[in-house]
Amino acid sequence: MPGLLLGDEFPNFEADTTIGRIKFHDFLGSSWGILFSHPKDFTPVCTTELACAARISDEFTKRGVKMIALSIDSVEDHRHWSKDVMAFNSETESPLPFPIIADDKRELSVQLGMLDPDERDKDGMPLTARCVFVIGPDKKLKLSILYPATTGRNFDELLRVIDSLQLTAQKKVATPVNWKPNDKVMVIPSLSEAEAAALFPNGVTTKEVPSGKKYLRYTQL
Ligand code: BEZ
Repeated sequence: MPGLLLGDEFPNFEADTTIGRIKFHDFLGSSWGILFSHPKDFTPVCTTELACAARISDEFTKRGVKMIALSIDSVEDHRHWSKDVMAFNSETESPLPFPIIADDKRELSVQLGMLDPDERDKDGMPLTARCVFVIGPDKKLKLSILYPATTGRNFDELLRVIDSLQLTAQKKVATPVNWKPNDKVMVIPSLSEAEAAALFPNGVTTKEVPSGKKYLRYTQL
């Protein structure tokens, strides 16, 4: 089973897209990137997802993240579908604010392990699952998630994880369950007490637990 692991360099694939042929690393430049795949053009859940992604695209831009979608149809289909997506948002005059990759031969879907064996088109060919890859400015894979075709994603959650990825790339912290920006964060286990005290001027609080081990350390950045 092919597959990309966290920390792997993301393939510098070439592909046809709604903005022309791209080489992925050139497309990303020095930005973060998010690539999200869709099973098929002109399908209901995919349309709601792309419409949501378009509505909140400014939030990705604000975070320095370049967006790109992928579906297993042609550029021509993608261009027609994009108009439906923007109409779903009642924004018929605006173009879709990010490109869509045309993976009509499923080459990239196979290479990146994105096919959903349980969902097939009318010819029995597998459709793409709802895959998300977040790529860092170093072109390495920072996060991947894989949903089946029948379950739409939560794009607000994607913004939340990008906030966590960007924060934890800069500071020696980790974000706890259901964390949101400005919530307290956790000091990573590899830091000694002295290092933590030096790094976090707002102080470190430790939650006492029966084991007596001091691993639940919080700080406010
Ligand atoms: C959809 O986008 O609605 C969809 C696509 C493939 C399978 C199931 C749902």
